[in-house]
Amino acid sequence: MTVLPVIQPLPVHVAIIMDGNGRWAKDRHQPRLFGHKAGVDSVREIVEAAREIGIRHLTLYAFSTENWQRPGLEVKGLMMLLKTFLQAELDAMKKNGIRLDCFGQKERLPDDARAVLERVIAETADCPGLRLNLALSYGSRTEMLRAVREVGSRCAAGQLRPEEIDEQLFSGCLYSAGQPDPDLLIRTSGEQRLSNFLLWQLSYAELYFTETRWPDFRREQFFEALQIYASRQRRFGKTGEQVEKK
Ligand code: IPE
Ligand code: IPE
Ligand code: MG
Repeated sequence: MTVLPVIQPLPVHVAIIMDGNGRWAKDRHQPRLFGHKAGVDSVREIVEAAREIGIRHLTLYAFSTENWQRPGLEVKGLMMLLKTFLQAELDAMKKNGIRLDCFGQKERLPDDARAVLERVIAETADCPGLRLNLALSYGSRTEMLRAVREVGSRCAAGQLRPEEIDEQLFSGCLYSAGQPDPDLLIRTSGEQRLSNFLLWQLSYAELYFTETRWPDFRREQFFEALQIYASRQRRFGKTGEQVEKK
């Protein structure tokens, strides 16, 4: 049995920009896809670690709307990895109570990968444990525009008045509807940017950047990020004294 560290408070929702697979492979004189394959092992390990320690929501940025611009062979390889990962994990997810969701343009994914994705989402829909969100063909601006269009058409149809539009209603039109905002954002491989990820939902998230590349980001590195999160004081605009009194 593995020993879990005691971390208090734990974030309820962790979002991760899994970056650095390409550079990890390059350092080893290997093709980029070699890095993506190693990255899948990290995904498996982090999902498991998150579940064991008691994280309730985990959102992983796996493929952005901008990533479609990459070389065709890399995109094809990534889609193949997605499909094989989901096929391989379905049983374990059901056994471990993990519920899968997709944030992003499912319709742009290749038919075979999309079919497996839909199947895993449907078969895990009643799982009561960790909610795992894969951001696939995801872009935050597109997500927000989609929400604006929905809100706009409800107003145009007379079902909604503009003054009824509030943060809660808008949040409910995003892919993350019904889930809390991330408390912690992790980005691996040294880049310090958001790359069009959850721009609305990350408003008050704690940011954690590490030089570690995604294939080397494992259990130990994940728990380290959670420890650092736990050591921070979240003030939400109040003073430190106000927060301490609570
Ligand atoms: C992240 O690793 C995975 C995806 C974006 C799909 P990268 O492929 O971006 O790796 P680097 O940034 O080139 O090292
Ligand atoms: C962001 O990583 C997207 C994913 C991790 C899936 P990128 O490597 O594509 O981001 P940029 O282009 O360097 O900002
Ligand atoms: Mg990158």
